[in-house]
Amino acid sequence: MKVLGISGSMRNQGNTAMLIKRILAHIQAEGCSEIDTEFITLAGKDIKPCIGCELCRDKKWCVRGGDWDDIAEKVVDCDVLIIGAPTYFYDVNGQTKNFIDRTYSLYHDRKLGGKNAVVVAVCADRGCERTLETLEGFVNTHNFSSLGYISGRGFGEGDVLRDEHAVKKAIDIAEKIMKLLSNTHREGKR
Ligand SMILES: Cc1cc2nc3c(=O)[nH]c(=O)nc-3n(C[C@H](O)[C@H](O)[C@H](O)COP(=O)(O)O)c2cc1C
Repeated sequence: MKVLGISGSMRNQGNTAMLIKRILAHIQAEGCSEIDTEFITLAGKDIKPCIGCELCRDKKWCVRGGDWDDIAEKVVDCDVLIIGAPTYFYDVNGQTKNFIDRTYSLYHDRKLGGKNAVVVAVCADRGCERTLETLEGFVNTHNFSSLGYISGRGFGEGDVLRDEHAVKKAIDIAEKIMKLLSNTHREGKR
């Protein structure tokens, strides 16, 4: 059972990363041996934009290369995806959108359908709602089952850890993921 957290922020240790890592840390701390966790940041990664070439319709994979390939493979392999983004001008930042747009290539044969997802948005003040909407649009289009969302407030790196509501929600979501995966694990053994 694999839980993959992806922060789309260009800040390696930014608020989006902190919230996602909080979820993963709780799962690890609870010591569920059957659950693997992995965190990936899109900061510094080469994620070129989708150019609408439509070659992926035949190839069933994006032909643009770069770091997207390895990360997309991990998304295809995971059971639960936690995807988060900072809010830039009332929506997801560009790097996150580039990553999402290229998953069009995984849509043609519904490679992500039936997985579970959590969406995480961070903003300093206003605009988290649309960021969440964009992330939910990605999740719904691919037919993930939604396990919920977190919306955090913070400006400087690490500020979001003072948002008690968001941190509590991260723990609640971690508990939800563990419950879901331990049930799935038990059912798989029957
Ligand atoms: C280009 C840019 C645009 C931003 N636009 C917004 C915005 O529309 N609303 C808002 O509340 N915060 C905005 N912010 C602040 C970030 O959302 C905030 O600093 C957030 O915590 C960054 O998350 P990160 O640390 O994960 O990158 C913006 C920041 C930048 C650099």
